[in-house]
Amino acid sequence: MSAKKVLVVGGTGYLGQHLLQGFSEIQATTPFALAFTYNSFPPQPLLLAFPTSFAFHVDLKTGLGFDSISQQFGQPDVVVNCAALSVPRACENDPDAAITINVPSSLVNWLSSFAQSDNTLVIHISTDQVYEGVKSFYKEEDEALPVNVYGKSKVAAEQFISEKWSNFAILRSSIIFGPQTVSPVPKSLPIQEIKWSSFMMSTVVQYMSRMLWLSSGL
Ligand SMILES: NC(=O)c1ccc[n+]([C@@H]2O[C@H](COP(=O)([O-])OP(=O)(O)OC[C@H]3O[C@@H](n4cnc5c(N)ncnc54)[C@H](OP(=O)(O)O)[C@@H]3O)[C@@H](O)[C@H]2O)c1
Repeated sequence: MSAKKVLVVGGTGYLGQHLLQGFSEIQATTPFALAFTYNSFPPQPLLLAFPTSFAFHVDLKTGLGFDSISQQFGQPDVVVNCAALSVPRACENDPDAAITINVPSSLVNWLSSFAQSDNTLVIHISTDQVYEGVKSFYKEEDEALPVNVYGKSKVAAEQFISEKWSNFAILRSSIIFGPQTVSPVPKSLPIQEIKWSSFMMSTVVQYMSRMLWLSSGL
């Protein structure tokens, strides 16, 4: 049986880079092929850090780049979608971009082009900003009532995936924080200003990586 294929869409982002780190660490014991996508810049530091992985330029707005993945990597068994316009202010400034990037229609259309498309498990990262935010400890079944463009685009993404894809998992994360990435991300998260202990920081992001790994079923 050929090795399974894992594709991290948005592998150059904050969570994406930590996932690449986590996935590459377990590649030694669980062989699988690893690929990731980038959008802005060729990810030289990541290719040096994870030399066995494949990198593909993809634009979720247009779907440009997915054909190269088909040709050089093939159908992934697992896709973890970490790509997003993830800064709420940027979403307010450009609601159209927020929708076209955060609702992964080009990704799902591409995956649909494979003959046995349902074989691909899509793990999509959503946010707690799908909720109104007027109480603590929201539950999954609580009503999604987003108050900003970012949250609205993430709700639209969840609905799109639920309707168009059968083999999926959606994780609604609260703020993600942890140590610096191999290739520093340009945005500054408010939480990164807080001096957490290095133990706490690495634990949270490692827990997230581990949870995604378990969800992938590899
Ligand atoms: N960070 C948090 O605290 C937090 C909290 C809850 C949920 N989330 C969610 O978790 C996921 C990961 O967040 P993050 O903080 O890691 O995000 P991030 O650092 O902002 O990374 C975003 C990723 O999306 C890619 N991207 C942006 N525009 C694209 C486009 N047009 N086409 C293709 N790729 C594009 C970026 O590629 P380039 O870098 O190459 O441009 C980057 O890899 C997102 O879905 C976010 O909504 C994040």
